[in-house]
Amino acid sequence: MCGIFGYAGPEARAEVLIEGIKRLEYRGYDSWGLCLAAEDRLFLVRRVGRIGAVDGSPVNPPSAMQNPPSAMQNPPPAMQSGIAHTRWATHGAPTEANAHPHADCAGRIAVIHNGIIENHAALRASLQSKGHHFTSETDTEVIPHLIEELLKTEPDFPAAFLAAMKLLVGAYGIAALWAESPDTVYVARHGSPIVLGVAKNSTLVASDPAALVTHTRDVIYLDDGEAAILHPDGFETRTLEGAPVSKQVQQVAFSLQDIERGGFPHFMLKEIAEQPESIRNALRGRIVRSEGTAKLGGVEEDLLRKARRCHIVASGTSWNAGLVGKYLLENLARIPTQVSFGAEFRYGDPVLEPDTLVIAVSQSGETADTLAAVREAKLIGAETIGICNVFGSSIARECGKGIYIHAGPEIGVASTKAFTSQLVVLSLLAVHMGRMRGMSLRAGLLFLDALERLPAQAEQIVREKEKVAQIARKYASCRDFLFVGRLYEYPTALEGALKLKEISYIHAEGVQAAEMKHGPIALIEPGVPTVVLAAQAEIRDKMLGNTHEILARSGKVIAVAREGDEEMAKLAHDTIFIPKTLDPLVPILSVIPLQLLAYFVAVERGCDVDKPRNLAKSVTVE
Ligand code: AGP
Repeated sequence: MCGIFGYAGPEARAEVLIEGIKRLEYRGYDSWGLCLAAEDRLFLVRRVGRIGAVDGSPVNPPSAMQNPPSAMQNPPPAMQSGIAHTRWATHGAPTEANAHPHADCAGRIAVIHNGIIENHAALRASLQSKGHHFTSETDTEVIPHLIEELLKTEPDFPAAFLAAMKLLVGAYGIAALWAESPDTVYVARHGSPIVLGVAKNSTLVASDPAALVTHTRDVIYLDDGEAAILHPDGFETRTLEGAPVSKQVQQVAFSLQDIERGGFPHFMLKEIAEQPESIRNALRGRIVRSEGTAKLGGVEEDLLRKARRCHIVASGTSWNAGLVGKYLLENLARIPTQVSFGAEFRYGDPVLEPDTLVIAVSQSGETADTLAAVREAKLIGAETIGICNVFGSSIARECGKGIYIHAGPEIGVASTKAFTSQLVVLSLLAVHMGRMRGMSLRAGLLFLDALERLPAQAEQIVREKEKVAQIARKYASCRDFLFVGRLYEYPTALEGALKLKEISYIHAEGVQAAEMKHGPIALIEPGVPTVVLAAQAEIRDKMLGNTHEILARSGKVIAVAREGDEEMAKLAHDTIFIPKTLDPLVPILSVIPLQLLAYFVAVERGCDVDKPRNLAKSVTVE
């Protein structure tokens, strides 16, 4: 979704702002812009497409604007503050006019915004009736005009800014500049993430701490309903009512190196390759061998002990992980578990029985649908825990309790290492809840042993990536793919198909293998390869049966099989072996070749792997 970056201090230059929003590129965007302030003037740049350098050439100010802020021509020698934005279009096409920042009629106020203003149409109509002139189709543009209007009656700019925030309905993370206080950035948050950075001579703001780490590791997470005023030498935080709030400075746990590509051609490949380490990190310090269980510091034992049902809420890849979680919790802990899409939970009429534990799974911790589901669950009175990657994210904080997956920053839009780390954490949760409900010590220890072998096994799969690359090249021109699996491998089939369509734009479907004969088998023909997930010991023969059915209809089969399964290798056109593990843990390994397959197919087709079309890394709007 949209990315926000702002800076107050001596280095307020276009390059600094651009470097900031480039760190947010992975979130997905279609246009971008920035505004710098100095000497009672604002300087505006807005562009469509890739973030590039501001070369000093005049940039079209929005022509219909009555008094546009100046373009980047004849700027004063030093700027005092700036804001920058990457936009992912919601209201209005990706055009220069719709790119942020947006300005008021007088060109004295510039605003960037992440989220959606739901009452924008009513506000726009009311402002137009008072003579305000709009130049874009966006919901955001109402904000500078609203502040401009309120400045007529409010005592000062901060008061007008806060008063405007209170009139907005919807979700927002906002940063604004006012020409008359050129060294100050005004910020507010309601429903979209905002984090402040405190550096030596400067104060910063961003929608993601990844944009701040070149400047500082000291950050402050704003909560919903809070605002901040940033100066080069510090900041004030207030509620939207204007009451001062004191906030705690926290340390960002990751370094600059973590968010750079480190020699890999794409973040996605780097993140696939990091999985041995990220799986290890998800396990670190959480295995209690003496008791054959797991230790999960962020969740009270009592909460887990008294849960009689679980309801997992998530979206996308995290939903697929949640589906594996359902099988894990039901098999290992015998807890009835349901999985809902965040959006369905929110707008459906979920029945939560007493003692249902709602588990929100989200890499970013910012997915609007999942966050809304958590809020709904809390309203209904359920206990909620989060399984998140991003520390201090909205879902993590809304749940209050939870388990971090510690996968490190995931930059590639296609989620990879977060998925396997989510599965590791769900496995730990299931064994822990299982041990509380009669799972034997022996079974617990067997499971933990298998978990501890995973990092080395993942390493082995990643090492053999060239084999997957060869297979990918062979099938890269196909227009459709099927992925089939059963039980633990059904979610893997969904995830394999999701990865392929996201980054290669090939149509792909994940199918429950037994369901093939109820319809999808009609799609089989020589040009439609099927990836058969056959690595679970218990149902391997059933997958052999599926393979025969596909071959009998002249379909091509790419098998993912347990090492040593020569029978499968003889049948399939291509086979990728994965090391043996317990069936419930198979998806953690078998998904890795599917991620690699999607990656190499996309590369072969010349797709922009890390920034696939139409997609955003974290979907912070409904
Ligand atoms: C994954 O490859 C996707 N880009 C997407 O489905 C993602 O998993 C989904 O938007 C949920 O994100 P979250 O885990 O950050 O909540």
